[in-house]
Amino acid sequence: MTIRVAGIGTALPEKIVTNDDLAETMDTNDQWIRERSGIGERRVGGSTGELATEAGIQAIKNAGLTPDDIDLLIVCTTTPDQQLPATSAVVQRDIGLSCGAFDINAVCAGFLYSYVVAYGQILMPGGPNRVLVIGSEALSRIVDWNDRGTAILFGDGAGAVVMERHGQGELIAHDLGSNGDLQDILYADHGGYIRMEGREVFKRAIRAVSGSVKTALDKAGLTPDDIDVVIPHQANIRIIEAVCKSTGLAMEKTVNVIETTGNTSSATIPLCLGKADDDGLLEPGKIVLMTGFGAGMAWGTAVVRW
Ligand code: UT7
Repeated sequence: MTIRVAGIGTALPEKIVTNDDLAETMDTNDQWIRERSGIGERRVGGSTGELATEAGIQAIKNAGLTPDDIDLLIVCTTTPDQQLPATSAVVQRDIGLSCGAFDINAVCAGFLYSYVVAYGQILMPGGPNRVLVIGSEALSRIVDWNDRGTAILFGDGAGAVVMERHGQGELIAHDLGSNGDLQDILYADHGGYIRMEGREVFKRAIRAVSGSVKTALDKAGLTPDDIDVVIPHQANIRIIEAVCKSTGLAMEKTVNVIETTGNTSSATIPLCLGKADDDGLLEPGKIVLMTGFGAGMAWGTAVVRW
């Protein structure tokens, strides 16, 4: 049995905050932010549930389906709107779904964890035929707008995919990992702001993602040259360049949205999938590698035959 992505949806708040806007309130500038991170602007606004709902409705529509066709909903987020219920309960109601729903939090690796879980669910005997997976974040609510080390990086947004049992598409190999010893370098307490040791996260991220890509490629029996499209987590364009250099993946094959969205945590990968789809890169049979990392540290890579 094989499983494909039948439809993709994305949602971004209307409000754009440019680097120049940030430079008005903190000691930073457009040139520094672009050179060090690749970010030019980010979107700010909306709740996690609202953004998720918009992206989810679009993914269902793009798949040519209706809410009744969805058998399971997974929302991955690190910024749930409430401590309880799960954000997925609100999204389930607002999209008009009548299926099971739950949240996953693996921070910026959340979409990869959710993709793998959804895939496994569909494979189970009697499992769902179609799973809606949504990565959604309202990170601007937990950003300290006085901290130039983090405020320049993050943004709000959502991306969604409908995964379905089908004669086309396959998860060839995956790698999920985490190292809880590294939680102090990137965290946010309940009611608090994101705190980060930027340089340390930068170094660890390159190491973790490069290792994960190599592991997944080995498991798949593929080489970097076999990959047609690379969808990396959007945290810093220099991290993506360094991972390409260390793994042999071609930078020209990466699909990036970071310049206009910043880091939207679990939404970055489905937002990039949306762009890849718009650019006509996701044809059946293409080999797509998705990889990401985040607080925890948690990381993951999936090698998919589209
Ligand atoms: O989803 C996962 C989450 N996060 C990440 O992946 C982030 C990983 N880290 C990074 O992306 C980078 O470390 C940053 C973009 C956050 C920072 O870039 P960097 O090249 O590591 O800069 P740095 O922290 O080493 O700082 C270099 C200099 C320092 O000044 P001195 O000590 O050299 O005089 C900083 O004080 O740049 C200064 N600086 C800034 N200057 C202007 C730090 N932040 C800023 C700023 N604007 N926003």
